[in-house]
Amino acid sequence: MRQLQAAVVAAGLLPLAWLIQGAVRGTLGANPVETITHTTGGWALRLLLVTLAVTPLRRLFGWSALVPFRRTAGLLAFSYACLHFATYVALDLGFDLAAVVEDVAERPYITVGFTTFLLLVPLAATSTRAAVRRLGRRWVRLHRLVYVAAVGAVVHFLWLVKADLREPAIYAGIVASLLGARLWWWLSSRRASLAAHPEATSAER
Ligand code: HEM
Repeated sequence: MRQLQAAVVAAGLLPLAWLIQGAVRGTLGANPVETITHTTGGWALRLLLVTLAVTPLRRLFGWSALVPFRRTAGLLAFSYACLHFATYVALDLGFDLAAVVEDVAERPYITVGFTTFLLLVPLAATSTRAAVRRLGRRWVRLHRLVYVAAVGAVVHFLWLVKADLREPAIYAGIVASLLGARLWWWLSSRRASLAAHPEATSAER
């Protein structure tokens, strides 16, 4: 299992390795900062979607073997989000913190990106087994923030794209399906439990 986890981490770090070798060799194109921003942002989003896909894949196809890799994918997503933010602060704005604050306050897609990033921080900080044990049911509630973060990430992408909306629209469709499946299961289990305990409905009324 440890070897498999290491292989997943290594695979997740391939885009970073590609960026590093491109930066060293000078093959990141005419605008390397843009390439780095797009690659890190893209992988933060894709890995976030991987974490959200684990539960539906388990429920639909019984792929429980994926569950231990959910946290790894989530932490990799957070790492790319940190690199994405760091690229923007350091390489794009040259550590001009006043410009960062101004952008966050005045450019809506940056506001959404930054909010999404902030939502990921408590999730990463409570991803340890000790935190899961300590927080109990509150951990489950807290980690529902990942749904908001996924929506935030696609809104950020949709908002920043100027002409061709196809790529962010595909991601929006994936997020809608992954969250829609959860909503469907939640409504079905609610209906089933109301059918099993009809007295609960009359009591609620
Ligand atoms: C920390 C705050 C964030 C800032 C300041 C930020 C900023 C940016 C900027 C400047 C761009 C490039 C815009 C352009 O080319 O016109 C970008 C692109 C992008 N960002 Fe962010 N972002 C943030 C957070 C996030 C987060 C948390 C995610 C995902 C989880 C994300 C996903 C993306 C994606 C998918 C793209 C487009 C990549 C592509 O064009 O292929 N961003 N972001």
